[in-house]
Order: sequence, then structure tokens, then C-alpha cells
Amino acid sequence: MADKKGRINREYIRTAQDICTHLGDDYDRFFGAVVPPIFQNSLFVDYELSGEEQEGRYNYTRLSNPTIEIAEQKIAALEKGEAALCFSSGMAAISTAIFYWVSTGSHVIMVKNAYSPARNFIELLHDKFGVEFTLVSGEKLEEYERSIRPNTKLIYLETPSSLVFTLQDLESVAKLAKSYGIATIVDNSWATPIFQNPLEFGIDMVVHSASKYLAGHSDIIGGVIVSRKDIIHAIQYGERCLLGGIMDPHQAWLLIRGLRTLPVRMKQHQESALEIAQFLEQHPVVERVLYPGLKSHPQYELGKKQMKGYSGVLGFITKGNPDKVLEFVDSLQYFKKGPSWGGFESLIAPVGVGMDEETSKKTGIPIGTIRISVGLESVDTLIDCLDRGLVNLSKNG
Ligand SMILES: Cc1ncc(COP(=O)(O)O)c(C=O)c1O
Repeated sequence: MADKKGRINREYIRTAQDICTHLGDDYDRFFGAVVPPIFQNSLFVDYELSGEEQEGRYNYTRLSNPTIEIAEQKIAALEKGEAALCFSSGMAAISTAIFYWVSTGSHVIMVKNAYSPARNFIELLHDKFGVEFTLVSGEKLEEYERSIRPNTKLIYLETPSSLVFTLQDLESVAKLAKSYGIATIVDNSWATPIFQNPLEFGIDMVVHSASKYLAGHSDIIGGVIVSRKDIIHAIQYGERCLLGGIMDPHQAWLLIRGLRTLPVRMKQHQESALEIAQFLEQHPVVERVLYPGLKSHPQYELGKKQMKGYSGVLGFITKGNPDKVLEFVDSLQYFKKGPSWGGFESLIAPVGVGMDEETSKKTGIPIGTIRISVGLESVDTLIDCLDRGLVNLSKNG
């Protein structure tokens, strides 16, 4: 199984857990250290700096760094992609990815409930460089087809959406896009590569906020792009190098540490979230639960077709007036109010509570939506915590 230097043979690294535990760690390169070190250096001396000779060698950390490359190898393999690049944030990855595909005069189709700063970036490109865009709900193929123009260069998806938990059909959209020579990007932060691999459906590029499940400990901000080798190479020496948004080596080391437990964490997040979703669904104060893992989700069948599981972020809408609902949100012991998700800790965000109809229409977020990120605390404790809050809401709301 292992070679003379104690390195695990690549052909024995088969599962996601094998990748997370061993891929790229190369004990012989690092004095047998079971945990590869942080190469906290900005430059590498005595290396040729020009042309092809630079290939596969290190010279400056804005281009590449051994610690960052270990994280990139693991995530590329998890996503079943050829190569990956790490970035200083999810938004650095997303903006660089979009920037790679579009130029002045391009048209972009984007799902309207994608992470809003991604939409804001398209708006910025529109205002500064005349990039055109069309927002679609993303649920029907005809919508994309109708929106395609001669200058359409990119379709940007986020499935499942981390705000409204709707899905887009990866295979059909990828096929349609290919037939018009249009590139596709999927934000796969919600599902993670453990539960969904968009590249297998013909999608060109996957982006991640590594600040969420990939790192999983709410201790770093980071981002990733996964795609074909030639595309990744072009971005590494082009957009990432020139915009300068590479991940820091220490950040990468924490990401690697988080990745070691990604499959086991996701298994637990999934189990607990499903139990909580089912609990909420039958609760008299709850009107609706938004979770693709529930059979009642309108796109449950599509989810089963393209996903291997479901993560721990879900939405629900309660009865009661918005002020009382906000009191309920504030009263919970275990679900602290926070703008992020995907960490070990449970979080709550009243994203649609008190929202007006116009904003709801624009963003696609149903009025009254409360988003929770189910953490790794005991599920009984979490259900008890929600139940106490909901009982109070039913009395006071
Ligand atoms: C779905 C999604 N994509 C991307 C991002 C951006 O990631 P980051 O905060 O690491 O820049 C976020 C952040 O919340 C997100 O929720």
C-alpha cells in the first residue's frame, strides 16, 4: 500500500475520506511530518523566474506555494476535477471566476437568488464595463433558453441556493450551454463535493466559499475554483496572479485541517438537519420548511438525481407577527444570530422576516424565511432548543 518512503500510493486513495486524510501529504517531502508544515514564506530563492522553466517550481507565493497546493489537490480530487486554485475568500474566487469568462460586451445569465455579492459583482461589471446580464429563477430550462443572446458567455448557477434552497438541473443547463458555446459556473458551497459534483454533469467550473463547510470551523475566510487544467493554469498565471487574491499559506493549512473531517462532519450535518427539518415540518407553528432533503420539497426528485446527500442549512417560515418571530429568533440558546453558515456551531438568520413584497420578488426569498445552519451539537439538544422557542411563539405570537 505504501512506497519505501511511506507515501500512500495514489491508486489506494479512492474515497472522499482517503483524499481528505492522505492525498498530497507526501511524507517524504516533509521529513515524515504527519501534518505537512505551513510554508509561511513569500518567495523561493535560486529558481529560474522565466518561461516554461517556472512550471512545477515555486518562486513567489502569489503564484503558488506548497501548503496551498496541498489544499488545492485535495479539493480538485474531491470535486472530481482536474485542478483547483485557492483564494483569499469565496468572493475572491467568484469574482475571479466571472472575470475570467466575461469581457466588455458580454452577456451573463445568473440565477436571481445566487449569493447576493456575486450578483452585485455582475452589476459592478455592468456599470463599469457594460457587461449585460439577465436574472432567472433558474427552475425551468426554457427560461435560460429564452435569455440566451448572441453575446451570452456565461451561465452562473447556485444549486441548491443557500438562501431559498431551490435547485437547478445541472445536466440540462450544462447541455444547453454547451450547445451554444456558453460557459457554466456552479457555486457548490451548500452541497460540498461530498454531496454533489457539478463537473460530472458537464459544468465547466465549480466555485466554493471555503469559509463554510470545507474549512468547517468558522476560523477562516477562503475560496476555491475547480476546473480543467488548462483553465486553471490560465487563471493561476493570469487573473489570480494579477488580481492577487491567492489564499495565505496559514489559511490553507487551516483549510487542510478542516478538510480532514469534511466527510464525517457532512454525514452528521445531514443526519441532524433531516431530523430537525422533519421536526419543524410537523410543528403547528411552522408554515413551511425549505429543505431539499425533505420529500415535500418540490424539487426532491431532481435533488435525488444530481445529489448524493444534503447538508445542514435549511429555511422555515413560522406563523406569528414579525416582531414576535424576531423575539423567537433572539431567544434561542444554541442558534446564535450570524450571517454565515457551514461551521461546527448552529446559527440562525431571519433573512426574510419583515421583508416587503418587492424585495421578496426581487431576491426570490419568501417573506418570513428564517435560515438555520445546523451545527454539530447533539440533535436532541437542538430540537429541544427550537421546541421551547416555538412553544413560546405559539403562546405569544
Ligand atoms: C453561497 C455562498 N457563496 C459564496 C459566499 C462568499 O464567500 P466568502 O464569504 O468566503 O467570500 C458565501 C458567503 O456567505 C455564500 O453563502
